[in-house]
Amino acid sequence: MDILKGNKTIDQGMETPQEFAHRIMKMINSATMTVALSLGVETGLLKIMGDLQEPSTSSQIAQRAGLKERYVREWLGAMVVGRIVDVDPIEDTYYVPPERRPFLVDGPMNVVAFSRLIPMLCEAYDSVAECFRRDGPSGVSYTKYGKFHQFMDHMSNMLHNTTLIPDVVPSIPGLVPKLESGCDCLDVGCGRGRAVLLLAQRFPRSVFYGIDISDEAISFARNEAQRLSLSNCHFIIKDAASLPERWVEQFGFIICFDAMHDMAHPRIVLNGIHRALAPGGIFGMLELNVHSHPSKNIGNPRAVDGYVISMMHCMPVSLGFEDGAGLGTMWGREMAVKMLEEVGFTDVSMTPSKDKFNLIYVAKKKIE
Ligand SMILES: C[S@@+](CC[C@H](N)C(=O)[O-])C[C@H]1O[C@@H](n2cnc3c(N)ncnc32)[C@H](O)[C@@H]1O
Repeated sequence: MDILKGNKTIDQGMETPQEFAHRIMKMINSATMTVALSLGVETGLLKIMGDLQEPSTSSQIAQRAGLKERYVREWLGAMVVGRIVDVDPIEDTYYVPPERRPFLVDGPMNVVAFSRLIPMLCEAYDSVAECFRRDGPSGVSYTKYGKFHQFMDHMSNMLHNTTLIPDVVPSIPGLVPKLESGCDCLDVGCGRGRAVLLLAQRFPRSVFYGIDISDEAISFARNEAQRLSLSNCHFIIKDAASLPERWVEQFGFIICFDAMHDMAHPRIVLNGIHRALAPGGIFGMLELNVHSHPSKNIGNPRAVDGYVISMMHCMPVSLGFEDGAGLGTMWGREMAVKMLEEVGFTDVSMTPSKDKFNLIYVAKKKIE
């Protein structure tokens, strides 16, 4: 068992040194393969492979993708040895067996989109490395991650499109009637606004506000709202740590999805959210389904990428601000519940998302 007792770490299994070295090589192989998968998403090659009905040559695939054959052939080589794509060595043709296809193309079973995380994080690789040095900078600016909002939007689109309206909203007691009859709602750290856009379409009597510090994300969200002709949502560039006075006790429902751990001043933000909620109002927070101590996260499939994402992005962007807290993606349920209770929330509950990777915290503001 991999647990910590007192100060002693307990052996993580009966692994030989050779097995340990092998395990590391496997990790490096998987990581390099992830770069090729990400390029497959970026160039549209994985979608083409997922849609191919007939085995095709590298020239046919390159032609269809509008890409250079030589690069496509090298990429196909990686896909073959990584056992994503099968090859017929006689005909020199490539294809993906039907049972693998849904995992490669957009839709509820897509798993490859997440591979784009690696190049996105590595945009700031040197800057993060500098932060480790004692005399290095304290954090990294969002501007170093050029593709962050695009990546985040892709991921939230897939997550929220399939789960927000059918699963998450109905799982919160009393929320559907509240939103159907109409109330003011706020999304804190809304990014490109996917959650707000979906909620505003489903609940036309409620008014939704999305705030974010990123002007790029907010202008994208505004354009989407306009494209969808939504008049009940408003996107504002705003620091969540300084909510306007006029918002005190204004909102019946506030959400913060995958964003609290990124905040430079999460305690101030949580206090502000509590103040902005009307008595009896509901706060819904989505965070990774993890514990606060690494020893309790061994074996959790989201813990490895969780710590790495945290180290490469979420923690440094928070620490990059003056007095940034650097909570990190893996702040975990124990600390999250403690902080929610400290700002005055009662009835804090946690429900795992459908895929079990996230936790939806639901906290109520007391009616005095
Ligand atoms: C991981 S993203 C999540 C975005 C969105 N909620 C989603 O699920 O796609 C975190 C977001 O929090 C925003 N953010 C970070 N600090 C903020 C602050 N102090 N005030 C408002 N937004 C902030 C970032 O710009 C980013 O869009």
